Amino acid sequence: MPMAPTPARTATRAPRLPRLRRLLPLVATAVLLQLPPGLLAAPDLARAEEIVQGKCFICHGVEGESSSPVFPRLAGQNATYVARQLADYRSGKRKSSAMQPMVDDLTPADFQALGAYFASRATIGHAVADTDLAQVGRFIYLRGNPYSGVASCATCHGSDAHGTETLPRLAGQHAQYTENQLKQFNSRERNNDNAVMHAIASKLTELELRAVASYLSGLK
Ligand code: HEC
Ligand code: HEC
Repeated sequence: MPMAPTPARTATRAPRLPRLRRLLPLVATAVLLQLPPGLLAAPDLARAEEIVQGKCFICHGVEGESSSPVFPRLAGQNATYVARQLADYRSGKRKSSAMQPMVDDLTPADFQALGAYFASRATIGHAVADTDLAQVGRFIYLRGNPYSGVASCATCHGSDAHGTETLPRLAGQHAQYTENQLKQFNSRERNNDNAVMHAIASKLTELELRAVASYLSGLK
Protein backbone atom coordinates (compact mmCIF):
# COMPACT_ATOMS: atom_id res chain seq x y z
CA MET A 1 0.00 0.00 0.00
CA PRO A 2 1.49 3.45 -0.97
CA MET A 3 2.25 5.80 1.91
CA ALA A 4 -0.61 8.23 2.51
CA PRO A 5 0.31 11.94 2.79
CA THR A 6 0.52 13.11 6.38
CA PRO A 7 -2.51 15.20 7.43
CA ALA A 8 -0.30 18.01 8.75
CA ARG A 9 1.24 18.74 5.35
CA THR A 10 -1.82 18.33 3.14
CA ALA A 11 -4.49 19.85 5.40
CA THR A 12 -3.34 23.37 4.49
CA ARG A 13 -3.83 22.79 0.75
CA ALA A 14 -7.49 23.59 0.18
CA PRO A 15 -7.87 22.26 -3.42
CA ARG A 16 -6.77 18.74 -2.46
CA LEU A 17 -9.21 18.43 0.44
CA PRO A 18 -11.79 16.14 -1.22
CA ARG A 19 -9.10 13.55 -1.99
CA LEU A 20 -7.64 13.88 1.47
CA ARG A 21 -11.03 13.26 3.02
CA ARG A 22 -11.18 9.92 1.25
CA LEU A 23 -7.68 9.04 2.47
CA LEU A 24 -8.21 9.99 6.11
CA PRO A 25 -9.74 6.68 7.28
CA LEU A 26 -6.75 4.88 5.75
CA VAL A 27 -4.28 7.17 7.50
CA ALA A 28 -6.11 6.73 10.80
CA THR A 29 -6.04 2.92 10.42
CA ALA A 30 -2.35 2.90 9.55
CA VAL A 31 -1.54 5.03 12.61
CA LEU A 32 -3.64 2.79 14.90
CA LEU A 33 -2.07 -0.43 13.61
CA GLN A 34 1.41 0.88 14.30
CA LEU A 35 0.64 1.68 17.95
CA PRO A 36 2.00 -0.91 20.38
CA PRO A 37 -1.02 -2.61 22.02
CA GLY A 38 0.09 -1.56 25.52
CA LEU A 39 -0.50 2.07 24.60
CA LEU A 40 -4.19 1.43 24.09
CA ALA A 41 -5.16 1.80 27.74
CA ALA A 42 -8.68 0.35 27.62
CA PRO A 43 -8.84 -3.48 27.50
CA ASP A 44 -10.31 -4.69 24.20
CA LEU A 45 -13.52 -6.35 25.38
CA ALA A 46 -14.64 -7.15 21.82
CA ARG A 47 -11.41 -9.10 21.30
CA ALA A 48 -11.94 -10.91 24.64
CA GLU A 49 -15.48 -11.85 23.64
CA GLU A 50 -14.19 -13.23 20.34
CA ILE A 51 -11.62 -15.42 22.17
CA VAL A 52 -14.16 -16.62 24.74
CA GLN A 53 -16.72 -17.50 22.07
CA GLY A 54 -13.98 -19.19 20.04
CA LYS A 55 -12.67 -21.58 22.71
CA CYS A 56 -13.00 -20.72 26.42
CA PHE A 57 -16.82 -21.11 26.45
CA ILE A 58 -16.56 -24.89 26.03
CA CYS A 59 -15.35 -25.28 29.61
CA HIS A 60 -15.93 -21.90 31.32
CA GLY A 61 -19.19 -20.85 29.62
CA VAL A 62 -19.68 -17.58 27.71
CA GLU A 63 -20.63 -15.84 30.97
CA GLY A 64 -17.94 -17.53 33.10
CA GLU A 65 -20.42 -20.04 34.52
CA SER A 66 -18.43 -23.21 33.92
CA SER A 67 -19.88 -26.42 32.55
CA SER A 68 -18.40 -28.88 35.08
CA PRO A 69 -17.28 -28.72 38.74
CA VAL A 70 -13.65 -29.33 37.72
CA PHE A 71 -13.57 -26.15 35.60
CA PRO A 72 -13.38 -22.96 37.67
CA ARG A 73 -16.17 -20.43 37.49
CA LEU A 74 -14.70 -17.20 36.17
CA ALA A 75 -17.69 -14.83 36.47
CA GLY A 76 -16.67 -11.93 38.72
CA GLN A 77 -13.07 -13.19 39.05
CA ASN A 78 -10.62 -10.33 39.55
CA ALA A 79 -9.08 -8.92 36.38
CA THR A 80 -5.40 -8.68 37.32
CA TYR A 81 -5.51 -12.10 38.99
CA VAL A 82 -6.96 -13.68 35.81
CA ALA A 83 -4.41 -11.97 33.56
CA ARG A 84 -1.56 -13.23 35.77
CA GLN A 85 -2.82 -16.80 35.86
CA LEU A 86 -3.10 -16.82 32.05
CA ALA A 87 0.46 -15.52 31.74
CA ASP A 88 1.58 -18.22 34.21
CA TYR A 89 -0.15 -20.98 32.21
CA ARG A 90 1.56 -19.66 29.09
CA SER A 91 5.02 -19.60 30.66
CA GLY A 92 4.47 -22.95 32.39
CA LYS A 93 4.81 -21.41 35.86
CA ARG A 94 1.33 -22.78 36.57
CA LYS A 95 0.92 -26.20 35.01
CA SER A 96 -2.26 -27.43 33.36
CA SER A 97 -2.49 -29.64 30.28
CA ALA A 98 -6.01 -28.25 29.69
CA MET A 99 -5.07 -24.56 29.93
CA GLN A 100 -1.59 -24.35 28.41
CA PRO A 101 -2.70 -24.99 24.79
CA MET A 102 -5.57 -22.50 25.25
CA VAL A 103 -3.23 -19.57 25.82
CA ASP A 104 -0.10 -20.29 23.80
CA ASP A 105 -1.23 -18.07 20.88
CA LEU A 106 -2.51 -15.21 23.07
CA THR A 107 -0.72 -11.97 24.02
CA PRO A 108 -0.42 -10.03 27.30
CA ALA A 109 -3.00 -7.56 25.91
CA ASP A 110 -5.38 -10.51 25.34
CA PHE A 111 -4.83 -11.66 28.96
CA GLN A 112 -5.70 -8.18 30.21
CA ALA A 113 -8.80 -8.06 28.02
CA LEU A 114 -9.90 -11.53 29.18
CA GLY A 115 -9.40 -10.45 32.81
CA ALA A 116 -11.59 -7.37 32.31
CA TYR A 117 -14.16 -9.48 30.46
CA PHE A 118 -14.60 -12.11 33.19
CA ALA A 119 -14.45 -9.51 35.99
CA SER A 120 -17.43 -7.79 34.41
CA ARG A 121 -19.62 -10.92 34.18
CA ALA A 122 -22.49 -11.13 36.70
CA THR A 123 -22.14 -13.68 39.52
CA ILE A 124 -24.93 -16.11 40.34
CA GLY A 125 -25.77 -17.55 43.79
CA HIS A 126 -25.49 -21.32 44.28
CA ALA A 127 -26.89 -23.59 46.98
CA VAL A 128 -24.38 -25.58 49.07
CA ALA A 129 -24.59 -29.37 48.90
CA ASP A 130 -24.21 -29.93 52.68
CA THR A 131 -25.21 -27.11 55.04
CA ASP A 132 -23.70 -28.73 58.18
CA LEU A 133 -20.34 -29.08 56.44
CA ALA A 134 -20.59 -25.49 55.19
CA GLN A 135 -21.08 -24.28 58.80
CA VAL A 136 -17.75 -25.86 59.79
CA GLY A 137 -16.24 -24.22 56.73
CA ARG A 138 -17.60 -20.81 57.73
CA PHE A 139 -15.66 -20.99 61.01
CA ILE A 140 -12.45 -22.03 59.25
CA TYR A 141 -12.86 -19.34 56.61
CA LEU A 142 -13.49 -16.49 59.03
CA ARG A 143 -11.38 -17.58 62.04
CA GLY A 144 -9.00 -20.26 60.79
CA ASN A 145 -8.13 -23.06 63.19
CA PRO A 146 -6.47 -21.35 66.18
CA TYR A 147 -5.69 -24.77 67.75
CA SER A 148 -3.55 -25.97 64.84
CA GLY A 149 -2.29 -22.66 63.49
CA VAL A 150 -4.44 -22.40 60.33
CA ALA A 151 -4.70 -18.73 59.34
CA SER A 152 -8.10 -17.14 58.78
CA CYS A 153 -8.73 -17.10 55.04
CA ALA A 154 -10.71 -13.88 55.36
CA THR A 155 -7.61 -11.85 56.29
CA CYS A 156 -6.35 -12.18 52.70
CA HIS A 157 -9.37 -13.13 50.59
CA GLY A 158 -11.78 -10.75 52.39
CA SER A 159 -14.72 -11.54 54.68
CA ASP A 160 -17.00 -11.73 51.62
CA ALA A 161 -14.38 -13.86 49.77
CA HIS A 162 -14.34 -11.43 46.85
CA GLY A 163 -10.53 -11.17 47.01
CA THR A 164 -8.75 -8.09 45.72
CA GLU A 165 -7.58 -6.95 42.28
CA THR A 166 -4.63 -9.40 42.50
CA LEU A 167 -5.95 -12.00 45.00
CA PRO A 168 -8.51 -14.49 43.76
CA ARG A 169 -12.21 -14.26 44.45
CA LEU A 170 -13.26 -17.56 46.09
CA ALA A 171 -16.99 -16.84 46.55
CA GLY A 172 -19.29 -19.02 44.45
CA GLN A 173 -16.51 -21.31 43.23
CA HIS A 174 -17.26 -25.00 42.58
CA ALA A 175 -16.33 -26.89 45.77
CA GLN A 176 -14.51 -29.55 43.78
CA TYR A 177 -12.28 -27.02 41.99
CA THR A 178 -11.44 -25.32 45.32
CA GLU A 179 -10.58 -28.71 46.90
CA ASN A 180 -8.39 -29.58 43.90
CA GLN A 181 -6.47 -26.31 44.14
CA LEU A 182 -5.92 -26.65 47.90
CA LYS A 183 -4.53 -30.14 47.29
CA GLN A 184 -2.33 -28.86 44.45
CA PHE A 185 -0.97 -26.09 46.70
CA ASN A 186 -0.27 -28.66 49.39
CA SER A 187 1.61 -31.00 47.05
CA ARG A 188 3.36 -27.99 45.40
CA GLU A 189 1.92 -29.07 42.02
CA ARG A 190 0.66 -25.49 41.97
CA ASN A 191 3.45 -23.24 43.16
CA ASN A 192 2.99 -19.97 41.27
CA ASP A 193 1.90 -18.18 44.46
CA ASN A 194 5.34 -18.05 46.14
CA ALA A 195 4.41 -20.71 48.71
CA VAL A 196 1.85 -18.54 50.55
CA MET A 197 -0.99 -20.99 49.98
CA HIS A 198 1.26 -24.02 50.44
CA ALA A 199 1.93 -23.00 54.05
CA ILE A 200 -1.81 -22.69 54.66
CA ALA A 201 -3.04 -25.73 52.72
CA SER A 202 -0.46 -28.02 54.34
CA LYS A 203 -2.11 -27.39 57.73
CA LEU A 204 -5.67 -28.17 56.63
CA THR A 205 -7.19 -31.54 57.52
CA GLU A 206 -9.38 -33.29 54.96
CA LEU A 207 -12.49 -32.20 56.90
CA GLU A 208 -11.36 -28.55 57.06
CA LEU A 209 -10.47 -28.52 53.37
CA ARG A 210 -13.81 -29.95 52.26
CA ALA A 211 -15.73 -27.79 54.71
CA VAL A 212 -14.16 -24.52 53.61
CA ALA A 213 -14.67 -25.44 49.93
CA SER A 214 -18.32 -26.22 50.63
CA TYR A 215 -18.86 -22.93 52.48
CA LEU A 216 -17.24 -20.91 49.68
CA SER A 217 -19.39 -22.55 46.99
CA GLY A 218 -22.50 -21.05 48.59
CA LEU A 219 -21.26 -17.44 48.77
CA LYS A 220 -22.21 -14.98 46.06
C1 HEC B 1 -10.86 -27.94 27.87
C2 HEC B 1 -11.41 -27.12 28.95
C3 HEC B 1 -10.91 -25.68 29.07
C4 HEC B 1 -10.91 -24.68 28.12
C5 HEC B 1 -11.41 -24.76 26.68
C6 HEC B 1 -10.40 -23.49 28.79
N1 HEC B 1 -10.11 -23.77 30.10
FE1 HEC B 1 -9.48 -22.44 31.49
N2 HEC B 1 -9.33 -23.95 32.87
C7 HEC B 1 -9.60 -25.29 32.63
C8 HEC B 1 -9.18 -26.08 33.76
C9 HEC B 1 -9.29 -27.60 33.91
C10 HEC B 1 -8.64 -25.18 34.71
C11 HEC B 1 -8.00 -25.51 36.05
C12 HEC B 1 -6.57 -25.93 35.80
C13 HEC B 1 -5.69 -25.95 37.03
O1 HEC B 1 -5.92 -26.80 37.89
O2 HEC B 1 -4.78 -25.11 37.12
C14 HEC B 1 -8.75 -23.85 34.11
C15 HEC B 1 -8.33 -22.68 34.73
C16 HEC B 1 -8.47 -21.42 34.19
C17 HEC B 1 -8.14 -20.20 34.88
C18 HEC B 1 -7.62 -20.07 36.31
C19 HEC B 1 -8.77 -19.71 37.21
C20 HEC B 1 -8.42 -19.51 38.65
O3 HEC B 1 -9.36 -19.28 39.43
O4 HEC B 1 -7.24 -19.57 39.02
C21 HEC B 1 -8.39 -19.17 34.02
C22 HEC B 1 -8.22 -17.69 34.30
C23 HEC B 1 -8.88 -19.76 32.78
N3 HEC B 1 -8.91 -21.12 32.92
C24 HEC B 1 -9.23 -19.03 31.65
C25 HEC B 1 -9.48 -19.61 30.41
C26 HEC B 1 -9.55 -18.87 29.18
C27 HEC B 1 -9.39 -17.37 29.06
C28 HEC B 1 -9.80 -19.78 28.19
C29 HEC B 1 -9.90 -19.52 26.69
C30 HEC B 1 -8.76 -18.89 26.09
C31 HEC B 1 -9.91 -21.09 28.82
N4 HEC B 1 -9.67 -20.94 30.16
C32 HEC B 1 -10.20 -22.27 28.16
C33 HEC B 1 -10.21 -25.79 31.48
C34 HEC B 1 -10.38 -25.10 30.30
C1 HEC C 1 -1.60 -14.67 53.60
C2 HEC C 1 -2.65 -14.50 52.63
C3 HEC C 1 -3.56 -15.67 52.35
C4 HEC C 1 -4.32 -16.38 53.27
C5 HEC C 1 -4.39 -16.22 54.79
C6 HEC C 1 -5.08 -17.34 52.49
N1 HEC C 1 -4.79 -17.20 51.15
FE1 HEC C 1 -5.58 -18.29 49.61
N2 HEC C 1 -4.43 -17.31 48.28
C7 HEC C 1 -3.46 -16.39 48.62
C8 HEC C 1 -2.66 -16.13 47.44
C9 HEC C 1 -1.48 -15.17 47.37
C10 HEC C 1 -3.19 -16.93 46.40
C11 HEC C 1 -2.65 -17.14 45.00
C12 HEC C 1 -2.72 -16.01 44.13
C13 HEC C 1 -1.96 -16.28 42.87
O1 HEC C 1 -1.73 -17.43 42.46
O2 HEC C 1 -1.60 -15.29 42.32
C14 HEC C 1 -4.29 -17.64 46.96
C15 HEC C 1 -5.06 -18.54 46.23
C16 HEC C 1 -6.05 -19.33 46.77
C17 HEC C 1 -6.87 -20.27 46.02
C18 HEC C 1 -6.83 -20.51 44.52
C19 HEC C 1 -8.02 -19.80 43.89
C20 HEC C 1 -8.24 -20.07 42.45
O3 HEC C 1 -9.14 -19.43 41.88
O4 HEC C 1 -7.53 -20.89 41.86
C21 HEC C 1 -7.69 -20.87 46.92
C22 HEC C 1 -8.73 -21.94 46.63
C23 HEC C 1 -7.40 -20.32 48.23
N3 HEC C 1 -6.40 -19.38 48.10
C24 HEC C 1 -8.05 -20.67 49.39
C25 HEC C 1 -7.71 -20.21 50.66
C26 HEC C 1 -8.29 -20.72 51.87
C27 HEC C 1 -9.38 -21.78 51.94
C28 HEC C 1 -7.68 -20.07 52.91
C29 HEC C 1 -7.88 -20.29 54.41
C30 HEC C 1 -7.75 -21.65 54.90
C31 HEC C 1 -6.74 -19.13 52.32
N4 HEC C 1 -6.79 -19.26 50.95
C32 HEC C 1 -5.94 -18.26 53.05
C33 HEC C 1 -3.29 -15.78 49.84
C34 HEC C 1 -3.87 -16.21 51.03
